[in-house]
Amino acid sequence: MFLGDATRNNITLLIPFESDSLSFDQGKIVVVSVPKDFGKGLLVSTQWETEKVIDVNTKQTKDNFAKEFYKGFPPQTTIQMISYSYKFYNGWSKPETLSYKYSDTMSIRSFWQTPNFSNFLQQIQSTNGSMLLLCVKGWKDTLWSTTHDDSNDESRALFMLQLQLVPAENRIYFGVPGKKDEAYEYKTDFVPRSKPLEEREGRFHNSRFEQNCISCHEGLPGASNGQSMNAECGVCHKEKMGDLFTHGPATEPKDCSSLCHSWSPDKKSVIVTKGVPVVCYDCHNEKKDEISAANFKHKVAGDCATCHSPHSSHNPALLKRDVFRLCTSCHQSHKMNHPVDKHPLRFVKLNDKSNEELSCVSCHNPHGSENASLLKAGGGSMAVCMQCHQK
Ligand code: HEC
Ligand code: HEC
Ligand code: HEC
Ligand code: HEC
Ligand code: HEC
Ligand code: HEC
Ligand code: HEC
Repeated sequence: MFLGDATRNNITLLIPFESDSLSFDQGKIVVVSVPKDFGKGLLVSTQWETEKVIDVNTKQTKDNFAKEFYKGFPPQTTIQMISYSYKFYNGWSKPETLSYKYSDTMSIRSFWQTPNFSNFLQQIQSTNGSMLLLCVKGWKDTLWSTTHDDSNDESRALFMLQLQLVPAENRIYFGVPGKKDEAYEYKTDFVPRSKPLEEREGRFHNSRFEQNCISCHEGLPGASNGQSMNAECGVCHKEKMGDLFTHGPATEPKDCSSLCHSWSPDKKSVIVTKGVPVVCYDCHNEKKDEISAANFKHKVAGDCATCHSPHSSHNPALLKRDVFRLCTSCHQSHKMNHPVDKHPLRFVKLNDKSNEELSCVSCHNPHGSENASLLKAGGGSMAVCMQCHQK
């Protein structure tokens, strides 16, 4: 049946292959095979991440920092990495980082009691910096117990998981409770190391891979040999429709094939019929004109689905990440060192009536522009600044 990756601890990751990426979307289906007598269930650890900017300018915040830090995280979460930098009059300090291996990951409470935390606290109490940028990463453990039988091997069971990912690098672990050092590690990145769909091996929808599912999930694309695509795609691809902002054409669950998806010529997988960006221009013709007319085009403008989710998203404009994290996942160095020296890049309200936050796209057009550096305003640097700083 499936050709999974090498087996360790009898846990086999069937979909996706370790060499593929599952990171083009925020939530993905993962199929894992384990022996039936595996134990109490499959422990799956996915990453979580949070970022905060804290004003550390006053004695009051300095004195209460330890308590506020502790209260700031849900009790079940763990810490894998904490990285922080301070804002001084001449910019942000180089970030300092503490990290822990998966098997040594600790709860917030344990971290709170370590010498590392005491040192961190002392630093905060003595710093001359005005702000603290705090990024904390950790793992969220979920125990999965319901399985499907593996119809090809009676001694094994299949787990079907929907996993949420964080921007940039993810390390996901599959294992048994209490044996974290033996867990199976899966790594995946957001851009740029992700592979486009058509280059991925082991794509799911073909009659061989679907064999195990068709007894219960009727009308799968491969099950009908490419005749029709009337399966309820959303039963399995739940995450695609579940978010705050839904893409107009993806709201009709049985309409996946008429507008966008079809069989590959060899009938072995489901593809985007016309490919990106052509499929998008069918309806968003004005974007095609806007981009082709632009003097300066964003080099990645045609990869619409790198930035936008074609199905649904938590973010406005169907963006896969919030703007800062989306842009800096490729422009990593601009997180701290943007050429407009010391200018805030987020976390401040625009000084107009819109009540919106300043972001990369307050100044840049993400698709293309008349102006160099994809700037929204032309006329030299003064004019750029005068958009918001009229005097
Ligand atoms: C024994 C019958 C059976 C088999 C075999 C089966 N499924 Fe399911 N599956 C179900 C049922 C029942 C549901 C729940 C449907 C619902 O919530 O509407 C489900 C739900 C799912 C979901 C959604 C999970 C969630 O988050 O709730 C996914 C994904 C899924 N199946 C994938 C698969 C895949 C992939 C295969 C083949 C490897 C497969 N299933 C084989 C019965 C089966
Ligand atoms: C039984 C569950 C199930 C159903 C029903 C289902 N899919 Fe999938 N699909 C999967 C799994 C598992 C994958 C592989 C993991 C992933 O890419 O998220 C997948 C992957 C895909 C991919 C990526 C390319 C590939 O072949 O791996 C596309 C596109 C896709 N499905 C479209 C559809 C469409 C359209 C329908 C409805 C006609 C549908 N799926 C119904 C389980 C299902
Ligand atoms: C079948 C027509 C159709 C296709 C194909 C299509 N879209 Fe859309 N799209 C729509 C409609 C309708 C809306 C909702 C328009 C609105 O609310 O103004 C929309 C909205 C959007 C929005 C949100 C606009 C906003 O202001 O929030 C984005 C972003 C978007 N589409 C991107 C894409 C991308 C990327 C593709 C290709 C992967 C694509 N669309 C393909 C019809 C389509
Ligand atoms: C580098 C990331 C990126 C790429 C690639 C990208 N977009 Fe966007 N797009 C954005 C961002 C960010 C916004 C929100 C802009 C804002 O809020 O001012 C946006 C907004 C939009 C909107 C709604 C607002 C508007 O400007 O009309 C549409 C529609 C859209 N994009 C379509 C597309 C299409 C079609 C493609 C492919 C040809 C594409 N985008 C490629 C980042 C991107
Ligand atoms: C998928 C990766 C990717 C993402 C995401 C991305 N960019 Fe880019 N961007 C590039 C590449 C590649 C170039 C071309 C760089 C070069 O030529 O050196 C570029 C160029 C630029 C330039 C022009 C540089 C110049 O000198 O002309 C600006 C400005 C820019 N990006 C801003 C943004 C903003 C704002 C966002 C978020 C909306 C964003 N980028 C998201 C990959 C990306
Ligand atoms: C306040 C306005 C403003 C904001 C906010 C802003 N930029 Fe810029 N950016 C500029 C200006 C102005 C330039 C041109 C600087 C120059 O030519 O010296 C520029 C240049 C760039 C360049 C090209 C020059 C280079 O260093 O390669 C990139 C890439 C870029 N910005 C990315 C970003 C990203 C990513 C963000 C969000 C994290 C962002 N910018 C936020 C105004 C802004
Ligand atoms: C899209 C709107 C926008 C543009 C364009 C813009 N700024 Fe700003 N700028 C802001 C906002 C919002 C703040 C934060 C305001 C505050 O703290 O009161 C800010 C703050 C500043 C500050 C104070 C920084 C600090 O740390 O307190 C300086 C200096 C500044 N901008 C210079 C510039 C220059 C130079 C340019 C042109 C390259 C520019 N800005 C373009 C919106 C903008």
